[in-house]
Amino acid sequence: MSAAIPPADESLYAPLQAAAWRLGHLGQSLDGFIGTAGGRADAINGPENLDHLHRLRALADAVVVGAGTVVADDPRLTVRRVAGDNPVRVVVDPRGALLPDHRVFQDGAAPTLQASLEPGPAPGRAERLVVARRDGALALDDLFAQLAARGLRRIFVEGGGQTVSRCLAAGLLDRLQLCLAPLLLGGGRRGLAVPEAASMAEALRAPCRTYAMGADVLFDFDLSV
Ligand SMILES: NC(=O)c1ccc[n+]([C@@H]2O[C@H](COP(=O)([O-])OP(=O)(O)OC[C@H]3O[C@@H](n4cnc5c(N)ncnc54)[C@H](OP(=O)(O)O)[C@@H]3O)[C@@H](O)[C@H]2O)c1
Repeated sequence: MSAAIPPADESLYAPLQAAAWRLGHLGQSLDGFIGTAGGRADAINGPENLDHLHRLRALADAVVVGAGTVVADDPRLTVRRVAGDNPVRVVVDPRGALLPDHRVFQDGAAPTLQASLEPGPAPGRAERLVVARRDGALALDDLFAQLAARGLRRIFVEGGGQTVSRCLAAGLLDRLQLCLAPLLLGGGRRGLAVPEAASMAEALRAPCRTYAMGADVLFDFDLSV
């Protein structure tokens, strides 16, 4: 089943009709937090952004999250709010330390890969993907190359802050979407971390469109130019 795209939002989704893209998305408070220190992140944005997230999943071949997100939110990463197929689920778990009882590893709703630095038994119904190490960290370019070799070229990096930030720092994203919710958290899990610009001229700027999503505003940066 192909994903249903509302005609009003065609410009938002048109770039995602391409055969290959890598998009990172974070929903955050106005003061830059993506979750409370110990809690979940699923109530930051409104239902319109949740629909958008599910549409991104439906358009993607694979959805990628970090181990921290699986521990905090226990997400299913499936398509439930719109029409479309579930993407392959990829959990970046360098140490292979996640317990098998998380829903992505147990529910069998879609093929699930655990991207780790060493071979070993995969949790639950997942498959372990051994990824190269660079500078002590998991080499995300190698991960994406292995996904592409499996035909997975439309990649949605759904969180959390560390994983999206690492993908951005490695120059691996074509698009970055930040959805700002009209609330202030005052503290909690930081969202995007980018190197400090020494001057305004060095700030990371890219072509950007904005979209109203209920009370939230989505900033859609085109990093491919
Ligand atoms: N609002 C949103 O849009 C949104 C979306 C998703 C999640 N969240 C929230 O975000 C929080 C989790 O985010 P987070 O930033 O703490 O964690 P995260 O990005 O989900 O996961 C961080 C972990 O991923 C691993 N990792 C990812 N890429 C790596 C690399 N290239 N090399 C080595 N390790 C890598 C590391 O695992 P190891 O420590 O095992 O090495 C790291 O600790 C939760 O509160 C969740 O609710 C919010």
